[in-house]
Amino acid sequence: MFCPKKHFEFKDIPDLTGKTAIITGANTGIGRVCALEMAKKGCKVIFACRTESKTLPVIEEIKKETGNTQLEFVALDLMSLQSVKKFVETIKSRNEKLNILLNNAGVMMCPFGLSADGIETQFATNHVAHFYLTTQLLPLLEENTPSRIVTVSSLGHRGAIGSLDLENISDPKKYSRHFHYCKSKAANVLFTRELAKRLKEKGVENVFVNCNHPGVVRSDLTRHLLGTTLTKIYNATFTITTEDGALAQLYLATSPEVEEKNVKGQYYVPYGDVGTVSALASSDKNALELWDFTENLLKEKVDGYKGSPI
Ligand SMILES: NC(=O)c1ccc[n+]([C@@H]2O[C@H](COP(=O)([O-])OP(=O)(O)OC[C@H]3O[C@@H](n4cnc5c(N)ncnc54)[C@H](OP(=O)(O)O)[C@@H]3O)[C@@H](O)[C@H]2O)c1
Repeated sequence: MFCPKKHFEFKDIPDLTGKTAIITGANTGIGRVCALEMAKKGCKVIFACRTESKTLPVIEEIKKETGNTQLEFVALDLMSLQSVKKFVETIKSRNEKLNILLNNAGVMMCPFGLSADGIETQFATNHVAHFYLTTQLLPLLEENTPSRIVTVSSLGHRGAIGSLDLENISDPKKYSRHFHYCKSKAANVLFTRELAKRLKEKGVENVFVNCNHPGVVRSDLTRHLLGTTLTKIYNATFTITTEDGALAQLYLATSPEVEEKNVKGQYYVPYGDVGTVSALASSDKNALELWDFTENLLKEKVDGYKGSPI
């Protein structure tokens, strides 16, 4: 298997004392590694996860390993926009000084399903909920600059070809496990690029918004993909560890280079290098269409939604 040179390693993560990070899906997989490594550097980490009973033991383990006591669980179910709303209200009510938002949680190639709001599972979890979460937390990130927003996309974004076909995204008759995952991950790239553009137009200099592909990583993400034996062979043959998979997003979330080189609106790959974005995900027209579509969806689904603050 081809392993690119490591441009960034755990030892390169700077001291994060005084910084606060929110990590979605921090209870397992790549998100857990990010939480552990950031905790080691003194960061306050909010575990934005859906299952308390799965998350609290992980927090206890990381507290024990790092001695960092500033780790906590705040419930967030990305399959419910009400849950996202409640999460944001909780964070805002505590006057958290948010510096890093790591949109890491995701689902891949699951059977067709709908979120509590009637949105297809992969699009709802991977894109819509993270769009809502990010834009609602944006004022906090603008108050606490320099700040970072990292959204975990995938090389799979390249599998979205032609059009996102947004109007039919939640239609069971048009569902493809594979293409809907690819579309949701292309949406992560398009959202990142459009948000970076809007921040620039607003004159916001110090919010660094980027996305990444973590690598093909040995995690539970393939749970819907293959049978157990095949998954084992696949994992043993083609994948990298969750530790290596965490490096690209840890680079974007913490490396001083991101500020030094003014990295914004970019897509990074292992291990901390710029990657190539597909034609569909490079299109400004697609980025704007996705933004407007998501805004309209939120207006339809969330009572009292006033639009994103940017
Ligand atoms: N693994 C790879 O090869 C690979 C490749 C490209 C991109 N990625 C991306 O990397 C990210 C992390 O994946 P991973 O490999 O670490 O997968 P993982 O081990 O399956 O972890 C996924 C995380 O997302 C959380 N999550 C899923 N649905 C959620 C919901 N409705 N609300 C809140 N949290 C939810 C899961 O929580 P529960 O534990 O409660 O289910 C879990 O914490 C994902 O965005 C994925 O698309 C991974």
